[in-house]
Amino acid sequence: MSLIKGGIIVQEQLKQLEQEAIEKVANVVDLKALQEIQVAYTGRKGSITEVLRGMGKLSKEERPIIGELANKVRASIQATIDEKKAALELEQLEKQLEKETIDVTLPGRPVQFGGSHVLTSLIEEIEDLFIGLGYEVREGPEVETDYYNFEALNLPKGHPARDMQDSFYITNELLLRTHTSPVQARTMRALDGQEPIRMICPGKVYRRDSDDATHSHQFTQIEGLYVDKNVRMSDLKGTLDLFAKKMFGEDRDIRLRPSFFPFTEPSVEMDISCKVCSGEGCSVCKQTGWIEILGAGMVHPSVLEMAGYDPNVYTGFAFGMGPDRIAMLKYGIEDIRRFYTNDMRFLKQFHEA
Ligand code: DAH
Repeated sequence: MSLIKGGIIVQEQLKQLEQEAIEKVANVVDLKALQEIQVAYTGRKGSITEVLRGMGKLSKEERPIIGELANKVRASIQATIDEKKAALELEQLEKQLEKETIDVTLPGRPVQFGGSHVLTSLIEEIEDLFIGLGYEVREGPEVETDYYNFEALNLPKGHPARDMQDSFYITNELLLRTHTSPVQARTMRALDGQEPIRMICPGKVYRRDSDDATHSHQFTQIEGLYVDKNVRMSDLKGTLDLFAKKMFGEDRDIRLRPSFFPFTEPSVEMDISCKVCSGEGCSVCKQTGWIEILGAGMVHPSVLEMAGYDPNVYTGFAFGMGPDRIAMLKYGIEDIRRFYTNDMRFLKQFHEA
């Protein structure tokens, strides 16, 4: 059946809407405007719905025809919108990709590599040397008890030799360790009679000193201990000689001078021959031809006994050295504070390029 007057008007209106919508879609340049068109034409309150409201006035026969036409128009508008939407989205994506393009041929940003502190490197070098001799590396607490820092090392309360090491006390019984020697006693206790003991202990130590070119309230030490049956002074001397030659050069000599430490008997200090003047005497070695490097000795029987090792069965040697001082000599550094003030110009000199 064909449409009569009312139907023809509605049909015309729908066709016009379709044409109008398609034209608008063609001119749209962004997704938001497209969305608005969709709402305005095909939406629930859009123009098509509006036109269909007039359907009530149409005859029963006309209604399905107009209904079908309205669906076609809606579908046609929707298809145009969908097509446009895809095109706009693609365009947007392309623009974004273009903006985010990475030029892989540009030079990269240089990565700054860190490196070990000169003292850390030196300590590791000394560790490697002693590990090669069968020693193990141990650690102890920096906040130490009076017992381990002093008493277990044959320095009872009130002993005058305590004055040699001005201390930072935390309580009457706790202090910042003044040397790494307490790890001797701790190791012997921990190993509880096992033999032999060969250990070194690097670490930070603290003294109540005023900082100057040769003193720092915090510095580093490396303790060494060897306990077994029949350990002799000659073993100590051989070990230290090997250490000195590996550390400072095969042409260096060592000498042992008698000294005193409460935890060793006999006690010695070890000097190495001066590299600058080869023993002639110069300002570096204070005209003596020798430079003091470390303290050492045979472990005092009382120290062995307190730690549970029978001094009639066991003997041992111990030594204590300062990596700060060794680094100063090795690299000609004149001020110990350089190690602790973090001037990158200074520290970088010791990094491999
Ligand atoms: N603990 C001593 C100090 O800080 C150094 C030392 C000397 C350690 C002799 C030792 C030793 O083990 O046997 O001055």
